[in-house]
Amino acid sequence: MSTAMDIDAPNVSESNSETSDFYAPWLEKYRPRVLDDIVGNEDIVSRLKVISRDGNVPNILLVGMSGIGKTTSILCLAAELLGPSYKDAVLELNASDDRSIDTVRDNIKKFAQKKVTLPPGKHKIIILDEADSMTGGAQQALRRTMELYTNTTRFALACNESSKIIEPLQSRCAVLRYEKLTDEQVLHRLLEICEKENVQYNDEGLEAIIFTADGDMRQAINNLQATHFGSDFVNEENVFKICDQPHPAIVKEILDSCSRCEIDKAVGLMKKLFYSGYAAVDIVTTFFRVAKSYVDMDEQFRLDCMKPIGETNLKVNKGYISLLQLEGMLADICMVSPAFATL
Ligand SMILES: Nc1ncnc2c1ncn2[C@@H]1O[C@H](COP(=O)(O)OP(=O)(O)OP(=O)(O)O)[C@@H](O)[C@H]1O
Ligand SMILES: [Mg+2]
Repeated sequence: MSTAMDIDAPNVSESNSETSDFYAPWLEKYRPRVLDDIVGNEDIVSRLKVISRDGNVPNILLVGMSGIGKTTSILCLAAELLGPSYKDAVLELNASDDRSIDTVRDNIKKFAQKKVTLPPGKHKIIILDEADSMTGGAQQALRRTMELYTNTTRFALACNESSKIIEPLQSRCAVLRYEKLTDEQVLHRLLEICEKENVQYNDEGLEAIIFTADGDMRQAINNLQATHFGSDFVNEENVFKICDQPHPAIVKEILDSCSRCEIDKAVGLMKKLFYSGYAAVDIVTTFFRVAKSYVDMDEQFRLDCMKPIGETNLKVNKGYISLLQLEGMLADICMVSPAFATL
């Protein structure tokens, strides 16, 4: 079914590289227009499909990490539900719009009171994207508004962390928790796009993209497009060069050195990474991803590594981005290594 004609982005199955704009961001070009095209989180998507079929929309709160299809799901749901009335019957407010208490009181109220003729059983929809960036006061102001206009209007909120949404709002909504997309799901989508866009790639290149994206489809598609435009061939080397991420092979080597308690070698490699210009936060993130996915390494060691890596991540995020912090992390990792225990 395709009632989503008024949303610009074509769907993968419909788009083709001759007719579409060569330079359009693939994110928008391949943003699903109908619920059926959303990858992953099948249970939630099928629940949304039932809602779109029956028209009985509750207030909903979509929660989950970035780039996994929350906003897309709401837009598809609204488009499928409202069809041609979409433009009149949907109010979208995201973090870049003013969402102060006054806006909630005035604009949202005004929209909720606006008369729009809709088929029986259908409601106007107010989309509050990135709702976790709304102040507590604005969220409080929403409580009453949500209840007052429940006959005509439904709210769809999306956020990364539900803890930042006040309890009374959560209890007024059906909470849908999105899971991170699996590597297979991301790969499947990337392959579809590669075919449509005639991307030259090898398997290691796509694996590298999946590694850098870590379950975030937005990041994966962005990195694919950046590598395709920047280098013409999507292989491992080009992906890490263009996405400006430390190469996991180097990080693996550092972890291997730490596991043997060879701190000098580990520090030498870390210096190389640091002075190549990689941001401390990217280095630590790569450590985390490698430790998580490096199955050849002793499992207990991998688990024990997480603590020093996590602690360093906290420090780096607070602004302590010196080489010394990273070297300190290596020393801590060495101390949890199997080799350290036998010294
Ligand atoms: N599940 C998915 N299926 C297909 N494409 C997806 C999916 N998730 C994300 N994408 C792609 O990534 C882009 C961004 O997705 P979306 O805006 O829905 O993310 P989000 O979950 O709302 O993230 P954020 O929390 O950062 O707002 C979409 O335009 C689409 O191209
Ligand atoms: Mg979003």
